[in-house]
This record gives sequence, C-alpha cells and structure tokens, in this order.
Amino acid sequence: MTNQEKDTNTGGEVEDSSQTKEVSRRDFLARTTLTGAGLTIASLLPAHLAAAASPPDGMPVEASAAASEIVGEEAVKVTLRINGARHALVIEPRVTLLDAMRERLDITGPKKGCDHGQCGACTVLVDGRRALSCLSLAVMQDGKEITTIEGIAQGDALHPVQAAFIEQDAFQCGYCTSGQICSAVGMLREVAEGTASHVTPDVAAPPTLATLSDAEIRERMSGNLCRCSAYPNIVAAIREAKGQRV
Ligand code: FES
Ligand code: FES
Repeated sequence: MTNQEKDTNTGGEVEDSSQTKEVSRRDFLARTTLTGAGLTIASLLPAHLAAAASPPDGMPVEASAAASEIVGEEAVKVTLRINGARHALVIEPRVTLLDAMRERLDITGPKKGCDHGQCGACTVLVDGRRALSCLSLAVMQDGKEITTIEGIAQGDALHPVQAAFIEQDAFQCGYCTSGQICSAVGMLREVAEGTASHVTPDVAAPPTLATLSDAEIRERMSGNLCRCSAYPNIVAAIREAKGQRV
C-alpha cells in the first residue's frame, strides 16, 4: 500500500498513518499555532512577561509550560499546585482552571462536558472540596491544593471509591467517571463532617457514613450527570465505598 491511500468512504486522500502515529492532534495544533504564522514565542509575549516565561536552568519541568503559551497584555503569573506538583504559568485572567489543566498542563482527567457548570464532568477537589473547574478561574486557585482524578490514588493503591467503581461496574463510556469519582470523594467527606442535604429529613441530625441512604447519595451526586445512565451502579459503588476509609 502507498503512503497516501484513498478514503474508501469519500474517495478523498487520507493521511499517512505512519505520520499520524508520531504526531498527535494536540501536538499538530500546537505546532501549527506557534510556527505556522512565522511567529516566535518571545514575540508573542508582553515584554514584562517574556523573561518570566523563560524558565532558568534547573527549574522544574512543570514551570516550562509558561514558555509554550500565547498570552495577552493582561496575563498574570500563577502557581497551581496540582496532585502534589507545582506548575508556574503565565495566563490571562479569563482562563478557567479546566482549560489551564487540559490545554496548558496536559492534565486531561477532568473532562469538558458542557463548560457551563451543568454536567460535573470537570469536577476536581480544591483544598479537599469538590469544585467545577470549568466555572473556576485558574488565577483564583493560586497556592491552593488541587486534586484531580490523576491524584486520587495513593501510588499503586486505588482509592476506595475508585476500587468500588470498578467492582460495581459503575461506568460505560467513562467520560463522566473522573468527575463522578472526585465528586464522590468530596461528597463522602462532607457527610463525614455532618453536612445535611436537601433530602435530609432532620437537618439537625444529618446522616453519617453508616446511615447514608441511597436517596441521600442520589441527591448529593445530582450535580454529576451520566449520559450512559450508569446511575444505579454509581450509587452502588458509593454505597460500597462509604463503609471504608475515604
Ligand atoms: S464541564 Fe464543568 S460542569 Fe460540565
Ligand atoms: S459512563 Fe458514559 S457518561 Fe457516564
């Protein structure tokens, strides 16, 4: 077969598969964005940030992300602490935490489902509290401790909620799963702290982890949608995990 073959559906030419293996879509877009217009990175940065965006020798790899971005005049420096690692970025104030993680840092566990705070696919933990990263500006999180699905496990040991999701087959396509698991971890912490929900019969006597009902789980997880409708299994997984240390 030749490098350039005919698409059997359209009759058009398809890409050389040997090249597509080596260059990801993300890499391709990044390269054409930065080099296609004949521009250099330095020329795209405001002068007062150009130096800040050039990591000195010996700086951790994470910090070099600042040098690979195109930013406007209003860009600011921010340090994000994600899954125990520090990431120095120069970003515009309008950049969401979700976009900063996915587009700048290649942390793609948090998913962009709606980008409007409606689906929960982008849920992360900020200082242990669940948060929608699509509704949160990255500059607001400077110095806070952010945990994504990539940081939930302890080394090779899965978090009890992760293990329960596998045990209970609580996902199908998996697109919502990283947000579901982060949300469940944060939710169980809220229960352990004695937080009531909309369906708690007596807010003066909120449920404990031991007494948490399925109705409470469903209500407290209602911000996380699953288009595959794996809800019964998700509830079962959280029911299983709540009896363990979370
Ligand atoms: S992507 Fe954030 S809530 Fe849907
Ligand atoms: S498993 Fe597919 S969206 Fe939830």
